[in-house]
Amino acid sequence: MQALHSMDIQNWQPNVQPTLSDQLALTLEQGKVLHLPKLRFDLEDAEQIFYSPEWLSGKRKNISLEGNEVRGASGSPELLKQMGSMIRRYSEQSASLINRLFPNYTKHLNKARTSFRPSIVEGPPPSWKKDDSRLHVDAFPSRPNHGERILRVFTNVNPVGVSRVWRVGEPFEDAAKRFLPQIPRQLPGSAWLLHALKITKRPRSEYDHIMLHLHDRMKTDLDYQKNAPQQTVDFLAGSTWVCFSDQVLHAAMSGQFMFEQTFHLPISGQYHPELSPLKVLERLTERRLA
Ligand code: SIN
Ligand code: FE
Repeated sequence: MQALHSMDIQNWQPNVQPTLSDQLALTLEQGKVLHLPKLRFDLEDAEQIFYSPEWLSGKRKNISLEGNEVRGASGSPELLKQMGSMIRRYSEQSASLINRLFPNYTKHLNKARTSFRPSIVEGPPPSWKKDDSRLHVDAFPSRPNHGERILRVFTNVNPVGVSRVWRVGEPFEDAAKRFLPQIPRQLPGSAWLLHALKITKRPRSEYDHIMLHLHDRMKTDLDYQKNAPQQTVDFLAGSTWVCFSDQVLHAAMSGQFMFEQTFHLPISGQYHPELSPLKVLERLTERRLA
């Protein structure tokens, strides 16, 4: 099993030929992690002060930029503004990277949250559901997405050379085949009720129902966690990687100081929509799920 596809890109605006874009999109959409070991993001001198978990407010693990607002950090308005512009610079660079690598995505892509993660990955998780050191696909209880893709760019910016260590699991379809028989059908009316109670931002589709169950079943199956096919990967300080986190089974084991940009992409914006988790699950269940 080869989880990564590595490439020698060194800047955030690479020139990529159309045939290479097509190849890379296929690789990414098949569920590999695109690994850019030489693509770094540097903090400016004045930003070095942000290398500390002390900026996190309360029990938060991530600082995020949503629109113009810095969330999850505490500090003076001036410093938070400076932090916001650092995070925005990452956001802009990662958007230019994706646009250069995958020009067909550009008109469909929605930029979502950008995060700066100054906390140490190791440490007790708040609950098994939030324990991202267990293999999982990303699926969020309050944010049904009806099959829309979650594309993420990650950069390890650790200043003293500490890697971010992940485990990457088996192909999505293999995991889906393994867990689907255990997943109950969505109860009639439950999607409507959760939405009416404002627990979800929109009604959950059957796709969302299955993805949440996949996320949870995988995390609670300790035998699966230990014995399923998987590969440990070290993302070195000063490297970047890109993946569809709703498809790649991943677990964060250790590390500190990372930036992350999330994009949402409708399936129709993919080079190969049939490779999406929605289409795979629809093929396996022989039902429409969204
Ligand atoms: C995750 O997306 O599960 C966590 C990734 C990380 O913090 O490295
Ligand atoms: Fe995750």
